[in-house]
Amino acid sequence: MPNKTTSLDIKIKTPSKNYTINFCTENNFENLCNTIISQINNRNCLFVTDENVFAKTDFFKNVEIQNKNIIVLPAGEKNKTWENIEKILDACFLHNLDRSSCLIAVGGGVIGDMTGFASSIFMRGIPFIQVPTTLLSMVDSSVGGKTGIDTPHGKNLIGAFHQPEAVFCCKYFLSTLECIEIQNGLSEMIKHGILGNKTHFEHLENLLKNNTTIFKNTKITEVIDGEDTKLLEEIFTLVPESIAVKKHIIQQDETEKFGGMRGFLNLGHTYGHAIELLSNFKVPHGIGVAKGIICALKTSQERNIFENNNYNANRIKNIFEYANIDTSHNFSETEIEKAMTHDKKKKDGEIQLILIKKIGEVTYNYL
Ligand code: GLY
Repeated sequence: MPNKTTSLDIKIKTPSKNYTINFCTENNFENLCNTIISQINNRNCLFVTDENVFAKTDFFKNVEIQNKNIIVLPAGEKNKTWENIEKILDACFLHNLDRSSCLIAVGGGVIGDMTGFASSIFMRGIPFIQVPTTLLSMVDSSVGGKTGIDTPHGKNLIGAFHQPEAVFCCKYFLSTLECIEIQNGLSEMIKHGILGNKTHFEHLENLLKNNTTIFKNTKITEVIDGEDTKLLEEIFTLVPESIAVKKHIIQQDETEKFGGMRGFLNLGHTYGHAIELLSNFKVPHGIGVAKGIICALKTSQERNIFENNNYNANRIKNIFEYANIDTSHNFSETEIEKAMTHDKKKKDGEIQLILIKKIGEVTYNYL
């Protein structure tokens, strides 16, 4: 391979596949493109992306990438559908992909999940590469092999475990994101700190506390730019630490076995998905998770599961506040419980909750 990305690279070892998460800290990502082209290694391939990434980033301006097959899909969670899986599969046939080919997802969680799912069923499974372009997909969905689509029956209820062949995280993409996208990703990073690494929580806490004015002064639809890019650099330096929490879990429980560790990654998700659903998906995923974590914290305190004092409970509430993430909601407990019945984290008719013992440790419980 030409110029490696960085020494931050993380090796993931799961029963089904070993692969590397590569980090590119440069703003000019020629190096990233070269490394991806080298990873493809002359195989026939198809790049899958969405209209936003195609229009708003320079990735597809790279001459070598331009020469490859590309499919551009509509952006957004509402497009994570069978219809778009069919479009990807049709493009695979159109461009004569076969079992020696690969797919490359360049986008956020929606593109990554759909590309991974299409690659898991095309000719009974071909490799795919993840190039996550959002903070959320860097720290969560690009790692661990969960792929799938949404249906009217619920989110991610159709899918497959299919690990990527490699993941390439590039700092450049953070500078293309609206503030709300950074907040979405930060919520998942904070989740990783709470469920598995107090030091990671503290690193995020210090960083966000010192930069709270940037979040308070930036509209959610604005990019964090100018002198504030130092904040994006600092957030990017914490991405490997956040992924390390997920690595530790998925290496022990790749397929989320009942009672296994992977379920802990759903902290905030049972409540969060219900709030997302009730808001008609106006609340984006990461913000839903933040609201869900605060619901889980409340239940943990009510059931005397949260071992620490109010000081530590307030630290969890405050860390979201520093990033100007609104953790409040107006739904009643009854509405939330009803919405939860659609959640796939329901086991033997019971709704599984992940509750917080202390910062850095969680446990299973039931509604
Ligand atoms: N996003 C949770 C998981 O990958 O298991």
